[in-house]
Amino acid sequence: MNIEKIRKDTRFCEDKLFLNSAGSSLVPAIVTQKMKEFLDAEEEIGGYKLVETRIEEIKEFNIEIGKLLNAKAANISYAYSATDAYSKALSCIPWKAGDVIITTNNDYTSNFLQFINLENRFGVVIKRIDSLEDGDLNIAHLEQLILEKRPTLIAVTEIPTNSGLIQDIVAVGEICAREDILYLVDACQSVGQIPVDVQKIKCDFLTATGRKFMRGPRGTGFLFASDRILERGYSPLCLDGAGAEWTAHNKYKLQPTAQRFTLFELPFASLIGLKEATRYANEVGLENIAAQNQKIGTQLRGNLSAIPGVQLHDKGDRLASIITFTKEGISKEQMIAGLDDHRVFYSLSSRQHAVIDFEEKGLDWVIRFSPHYFNTLEEMDRVAEIVERI
Ligand SMILES: Cc1ncc(COP(=O)(O)O)c(C=O)c1O
Repeated sequence: MNIEKIRKDTRFCEDKLFLNSAGSSLVPAIVTQKMKEFLDAEEEIGGYKLVETRIEEIKEFNIEIGKLLNAKAANISYAYSATDAYSKALSCIPWKAGDVIITTNNDYTSNFLQFINLENRFGVVIKRIDSLEDGDLNIAHLEQLILEKRPTLIAVTEIPTNSGLIQDIVAVGEICAREDILYLVDACQSVGQIPVDVQKIKCDFLTATGRKFMRGPRGTGFLFASDRILERGYSPLCLDGAGAEWTAHNKYKLQPTAQRFTLFELPFASLIGLKEATRYANEVGLENIAAQNQKIGTQLRGNLSAIPGVQLHDKGDRLASIITFTKEGISKEQMIAGLDDHRVFYSLSSRQHAVIDFEEKGLDWVIRFSPHYFNTLEEMDRVAEIVERI
């Protein structure tokens, strides 16, 4: 990995300590450049004509995301965000009272909000897989829940928003495939950070956003829908003329591909931006990115844990590039002021982001650092010195 080139491509990484790729990362310069070019052309000839003339470039979106996920282009659909992709997936299922969703203690806020909505509206039942002492999923408990409840859907977030835990989505996928249960994976914090392979995961749906470790623009994301979903005729509740053809008074014909999840009206400049960010990530290579993330993440965890009073709050056998901590005797306000003073970019995670996890840990807030491969080992030392002085 050519870190010098990568940092040069990340034009504004030198004047700050940017550790917020789990929030919204810094995009490579080429992403902004491609989006600006597209918008300039749109100003010149108008949106419809531009899409007509750039159709091949637009199609590359599905091809690049397909490469990223080891999927076919036909199984990919643009989404406005991870939550948009997630709600489209959930809306495919004809929910009825008593249907069971099995999820985890560490699934994302908006996923839980949607499950609760399904519970309130349709009488869907939500069950959670127990966590083991070290934070990992209790797979024996999942097997037991399946036997007892025969769930309609199993939904697992691989890396939660609020900690460095990596949940074993491959182990869950094996069970879903064996039991023929629909499987929805939230890979929002995984894509762009570690390799994600839908053939290995064996999921029916996978959802993600563009702005985080993918380093794409805001307002972008994508949905993967498996062949099984397409062949069985699942479709999102909200369709338009891009997803289906209106064939008779009371009939329509679905697009055979995951295009059925796309709407006609898309922010094409942003789509081009995420396509370019994905091409960039594919070129650097996800194995390389993950290896560099391991290196800098381990260094930062080691540095922070050596500081008197600092407590790290991430659990799990394998840890992601999300590092959460507090410091004894230091208030939230003091921590924020201390980091802001030194141009450290980070996130504050609070209870509302992950009620179950925060309650279990007895915390109200944590500082979240999320370094990415454009960060350096030297930056990991510098930020730890800043935390030590707060
Ligand atoms: C694990 C996880 N899933 C889903 C989301 C939602 O992403 P979006 O805001 O793009 O809908 C987030 C955002 O932080 C997340 O961390």
